[in-house]
Amino acid sequence: MVAGGAGYIGSHTCKLLKQAGREPVVLDDLSTGHRWAAKFGPLYVGDIENGELVQKIVRQHGITDVIDFAAKAQVGESYQNPGKYFRENVGKTIHFVDALIAGGAKNIVFSSSCAVYGNPETIPITESESKKPVNPYGETKLVVERMLHWDGIAHGLKWVAPRYFNAAGADPEGEIGEVHDPETHLIPAAIEAVLGKRPQLEVYGTDYPTPDGTAIRDYIHVFDLGRAHILALDYLREGGESTALNLGTGVGQSVLDVVRAVKAASGREVPHVLRPRRAGDPPELVADPSMAKRVLGWSAEFRDIERIVETAWAWHRRPVAA
Ligand SMILES: NC(=O)c1ccc[n+]([C@@H]2O[C@H](COP(=O)([O-])OP(=O)(O)OC[C@H]3O[C@@H](n4cnc5c(N)ncnc54)[C@H](O)[C@@H]3O)[C@@H](O)[C@H]2O)c1
Repeated sequence: MVAGGAGYIGSHTCKLLKQAGREPVVLDDLSTGHRWAAKFGPLYVGDIENGELVQKIVRQHGITDVIDFAAKAQVGESYQNPGKYFRENVGKTIHFVDALIAGGAKNIVFSSSCAVYGNPETIPITESESKKPVNPYGETKLVVERMLHWDGIAHGLKWVAPRYFNAAGADPEGEIGEVHDPETHLIPAAIEAVLGKRPQLEVYGTDYPTPDGTAIRDYIHVFDLGRAHILALDYLREGGESTALNLGTGVGQSVLDVVRAVKAASGREVPHVLRPRRAGDPPELVADPSMAKRVLGWSAEFRDIERIVETAWAWHRRPVAA
């Protein structure tokens, strides 16, 4: 089962699962996902908190393995409305995981985030870095990680919590890609500015302690994330220990690096304005991905920001809007 399989990272993972001969059964309420993106297996439209539906799907399809992408994922909104994020990302996930366990599921790969680290003391960030989220979104991910830990002890549920850095790019075949409304992610926002779909890109923060003053992030291609999820399920099926794992390239890019990459891919200037920092945005988040390499044998294949941005640009330039 892939919860949230109609969303951005979920749909790309479903495509890879299907290619690997493993049909994904998607559960998605389509709150931020898209019916057209859930094309790689059966789609159940429903909420993960609907325990009856979850148990029915698990039993009907004999599901033992689950990937859970279903969550609200806008850091800024979480800051303004913490209650919504705790209800959606924690409250609903409690019901979901309880129903999975009751239905007989054994293994879960749960989308966590580098937001669990807050303002890290050491870059690149290892999994043992202290976890002090600086926004409600990151806090909700950490709470679910802790719940999975205790569900493992109480019920034998096996779990991997990949902590993604910044998911980016699109299916290089152009079949699926990123569509969020509103779009808060940097690369698609910069592309929208180039295409005149927004007046300009807002660059938040130019006085960070970084070489060009803008914030640095680790952009990881969405297919690299998808591959890691499949490897994580295999790892659990083979008896691997439950764990959290960083998924990133290990290389940081500043906002202005990304602006340059979008200019290179599109051949056009990116209209942008400089704004003050936003609350809850750390200056630099770059993964140390060596544990994922050790545990899963995984490392990023898309290593250049230029190549990642090219796949995103090709998707946004597709002839027919999905
Ligand atoms: N995009 C990133 O850079 C990033 C980074 C770190 C972690 N994550 C995490 O990865 C996951 C996927 O992110 P995304 O960018 O693909 O987001 P997305 O919004 O595109 O996908 C989330 C999917 O979950 C579905 N969903 C949400 N709440 C649901 C519910 N209660 N019941 C059923 N379906 C529900 C949505 O309709 C959507 O299809 C999220 O958990 C997010 O927090 C994303």
